[in-house]
Amino acid sequence: MRAFAQPSFVPTRQAQWTGSNSVAELTQEIKSEEVDFGGGASKAASEEHIPVLLREVVHSLIQADSGIYVDGTYGRGGHCRSMLARLAPDAKMIGLDRDPEAVAAAQMLAQADPRFSIFHARFSQLADVLEQAGIVGGAQGILLDIGVSSPQIDDASRGFSFKSDGPLDMRMDPTQGLSAAEWLNTSVEEDIAKVLFVHGEERNSRRIAKNIVAARPLSTTLQLADIVEACVPRNRNNMSKHPATKTFQAIRIFINAEDQELRAGLEHAFAALAIGGRLAVISFHSLEDRQVKHVFRGLSRPPSMPRRLPVRHSDQGISARLIGKSIKAQSDELATNPRARSATLRVIERIC
Ligand SMILES: C[S@@+](CC[C@H](N)C(=O)[O-])C[C@H]1O[C@@H](n2cnc3c(N)ncnc32)[C@H](O)[C@@H]1O
Repeated sequence: MRAFAQPSFVPTRQAQWTGSNSVAELTQEIKSEEVDFGGGASKAASEEHIPVLLREVVHSLIQADSGIYVDGTYGRGGHCRSMLARLAPDAKMIGLDRDPEAVAAAQMLAQADPRFSIFHARFSQLADVLEQAGIVGGAQGILLDIGVSSPQIDDASRGFSFKSDGPLDMRMDPTQGLSAAEWLNTSVEEDIAKVLFVHGEERNSRRIAKNIVAARPLSTTLQLADIVEACVPRNRNNMSKHPATKTFQAIRIFINAEDQELRAGLEHAFAALAIGGRLAVISFHSLEDRQVKHVFRGLSRPPSMPRRLPVRHSDQGISARLIGKSIKAQSDELATNPRARSATLRVIERIC
């Protein structure tokens, strides 16, 4: 197992900032999402660790039982094990996770199954990982199940949840970069407001940022949750949604540079595919899904050409085809895992 270095933490713009306020054991995992970010789900449900859209991922990603496969977000290995169960003895599965705890959890599988290797790395470093693993030729299938895992949210000491008190950390890889508290305690109000607005679409971003700065130094998750609760009115249409949901999401995305990771990860993952290989991405909120959709469209749609011009596909710059439309969880899955309701799966295939 080899570790790779961490990226720089620079906020990027997603929504338009206007400057005003207008705007089975180890196999199982569960995802957080906007609505229940550590706040809405029961403890029992969150401990089940159910991988989302499992059947759909395995079905769409595994076309050949041999070859190279990559799980770029190992988590607790739910998807990874199900894929391995479908693969032949000569197949290879490369697992990555930026969280040292997920990597530690994967060691048991790496020891038990010679087809599987685990790397402590970000999926934006996939090219380096594949080189390090001695992989020659492209991958048949790559999965990115982005966001945070249930074990990360449920462990209060990781600082992701506004439900239980813990150090205000929120790093998926706590060995790298600034914690949420370090960033909030040292940033200017304008930057904090911008992050809340851009990554959380939080309409009250300015007021929250002002109150954060006034209450510094912050050190715990409940301290932050209380500050937000004091400035954000409860949503009368959705009382189960905690007022701090968007703020926690925004800070987590920023602290882990998740949007930059996704952009780079999509590019590197697509580049690592063999012709005919597929990339499957599961996202959990609209900002991420928009990014995935945009990149997939760009790869699969030809640029506009003068009509009647005889051009071959290969001359049109199309390098992929979309596999179906976006996929949402079916009612049977939602019945056992309500957290799957905001998961969206998109799949693309490389054609040249
Ligand atoms: C939703 S979980 C994946 C769950 C997994 N599919 C399973 O079945 O257990 C997301 C995982 O991706 C990891 N992760 C998030 N962003 C990452 C990145 N840029 N590179 C590598 N791992 C990442 C997180 O640490 C977390 O463990």
